[in-house]
Amino acid sequence: MIKIAPSILSADFCNLGRDIQRVHTADLLHVDVMDGAFVPNITIGIPVVKSIRSHTDMFLDVHLMIDKPVRYVEDFCKAGADLVSIHLEADHPTRIQQALDIIGDHGVKKAVALRPITSPEAILPYIDQLDMVLVMTVEPGFGGQAFMEHQLKTIARVREIIQAHNPSCDLEVDGGISPSTARRVVEAGANVLVAGSAVYGAPDISAAIAALRAAE
Ligand code: DX5
Ligand code: ZN
Repeated sequence: MIKIAPSILSADFCNLGRDIQRVHTADLLHVDVMDGAFVPNITIGIPVVKSIRSHTDMFLDVHLMIDKPVRYVEDFCKAGADLVSIHLEADHPTRIQQALDIIGDHGVKKAVALRPITSPEAILPYIDQLDMVLVMTVEPGFGGQAFMEHQLKTIARVREIIQAHNPSCDLEVDGGISPSTARRVVEAGANVLVAGSAVYGAPDISAAIAALRAAE
């Protein structure tokens, strides 16, 4: 079954509560955390995740685009994340594993995220313990960018690795997802679709979520 994760990066932050309520028919709420170092943009942090948690029962899918996430994963877990994604490029492998252990110790689901440049095989040391793999289909940092076609191959390869090692692991894609690209990423093996501009830029948000779900 396809799950839809609207990204609040495209919401109106002055009306965040209202904009979260508007996507209540979705399956997860995708929260993009950027530090101005791992990516050239700064978005939201721990206090905002805490406020969101007190406002909604939606599953909070927290995508950390930050350097050395081991420093902050505990704070995001305590703030109320249901799942935390950390980027494989953001630290050395031993500290990536440490960060995953901390997330697991808090009873929170764990994911690793891959920039477009990163080989699918980079997930192999971690795959057995993961709840999700996040494949970026744009360079992380900004909403509203064009989908990178060549990532369809990465998605297909990540799906093969998941099927071989941990079939219950989810495969999420993030960046440039619209009803037309949704169909193709799902064919390639994705089952969780992040969408920012395609949801919040649509005149009818519930219809936009339904259109993405229909990609199955
Ligand atoms: C980009 C973020 C995405 C972004 C997607 O770095 O990780 O989650 O919000 O936005 P769209 O769907 O507009 O490409
Ligand atoms: Zn994201």
